[in-house]
Amino acid sequence: MEKAKLILGGKEFELPVIVGSEKETALDIKKLRADSGAITMDSGYGNTGSCESAITFIDGEKGILRYRGYPIEELAKNSNFVEVSYLLVYGNLPSKKELDDFHYQLTHHSLIHEDMKKFFEGFPPSAHPMGILSAMVSSLSAFYPEEGFETDVKINMIRLMAKLKTIAAFSFKKSIGQPYIYPRNDLSFSADMLHMMYAVPSEEYEVPKVLEDALDLLLILHADHEQNCSTSTVRMVGSSEANLFAAISAGICALWGPLHGGANQQVLQMLQLIKDDGGNYKKYMEMAKDKNSNFKLMGFGHRVYKNFDPRAQILKAQADKVLKQMGVNDPLLDIARNLEEIALKDNFFVERKLYPNVDFYSGIIYRAMGIPTNMFTVMFALGRLPGWIAQWKEMRETPGGRIYRPRQIYTGATNRPYVPISKR
Ligand code: CMC
Repeated sequence: MEKAKLILGGKEFELPVIVGSEKETALDIKKLRADSGAITMDSGYGNTGSCESAITFIDGEKGILRYRGYPIEELAKNSNFVEVSYLLVYGNLPSKKELDDFHYQLTHHSLIHEDMKKFFEGFPPSAHPMGILSAMVSSLSAFYPEEGFETDVKINMIRLMAKLKTIAAFSFKKSIGQPYIYPRNDLSFSADMLHMMYAVPSEEYEVPKVLEDALDLLLILHADHEQNCSTSTVRMVGSSEANLFAAISAGICALWGPLHGGANQQVLQMLQLIKDDGGNYKKYMEMAKDKNSNFKLMGFGHRVYKNFDPRAQILKAQADKVLKQMGVNDPLLDIARNLEEIALKDNFFVERKLYPNVDFYSGIIYRAMGIPTNMFTVMFALGRLPGWIAQWKEMRETPGGRIYRPRQIYTGATNRPYVPISKR
């Protein structure tokens, strides 16, 4: 096995080198502190591998994203969200029977306990649906306790995938004051979600195919993204052996932030702000470059992708198609196109490799689909769920796992005697 050498304080230390199946290399520093007394420092974990994983591969320089070895472009073109969920969680594409069984389970577990409806009633109408989603997922642990992996955890993974869309749709209905619409077993996963959101008891509602296909594609593209902030949160919470619902609820909260999944909502708010300000997008481009302005171009930049975001490329084409088919003429889209055009030529963005990310286009498509802005991140969470579950399951099934517990370099006051209040 190849070893790296580190010289510290005049002493030499050998670090084993770990090589992944795509030839990525890592220095194994497991024994570094015990041997040398030193730790590594990596703010934002940009160079830190937290686990070995066989789920998702990303090469940010080349713009590659693969789930279990399958390129995202092929899955987006040929697969559907339920099949991709199976692939992520169980490791392989399902046979026809496995897929049928999985789909059957996802539909037949989609009702939530009637008592949970009372929880929705307790929230004020202004509650953000992400807060409701996270609270409801945590509450599921009260209805489906986890006592053994084989007995409860396996079925709880299915229950969660089946029920999240019902919870998401109910939180939307709550926010607009409409009656809840129950799930329907005869619809596809994506059509059922849209039906629960847009149908009302007073009339028939048929989900337009263009919306069903657009949502399914969006869910596939969001389904996993290796060790991002929310997934690392799921693993972090799960490492303490907290139950599945607790870990996923924490992941939902991490996703909510504007630098992560919350960016899709922020993109639309930014475009609206620019429109309301007379459409002067050039002014906002200058602000994004000015470090003192505190303004960022939302939907641009990515920690991992330094060339292009393959998900954004697929969505860009989809955005044009959906808007055309829906006959939507959105002035915000023109502003988005103008921002993108300038950013792709401007030195500030080119030098820093800041390209439109998945959230830039997803927000535009969600808007064209009539999904309200505060639901955008909920749709992201729905898509990311199989990835979170797959990562949580992989962690739980990997022998020798340890609780996540980083170290720190302390920079506070050194030892000082306590001063009584009368002498301060
Ligand atoms: N607008 C203007 N400047 C930016 C932006 C932006 N959106 N993103 C990064 N920069 C600058 C940043 O100021 C820094 O400049 P300098 O080198 O002069 O200090 C440089 O680019 C590198 O950025 P960074 O902040 O070190 O990059 P990071 O890897 O820590 O952060 C990011 C990645 C996605 C949080 C960041 O690019 C960002 O805040 N983007 C806007 C929010 C967003 O769209 N988030 C969604 C990410 S994709 C969906 C998901 O997976 O969550």
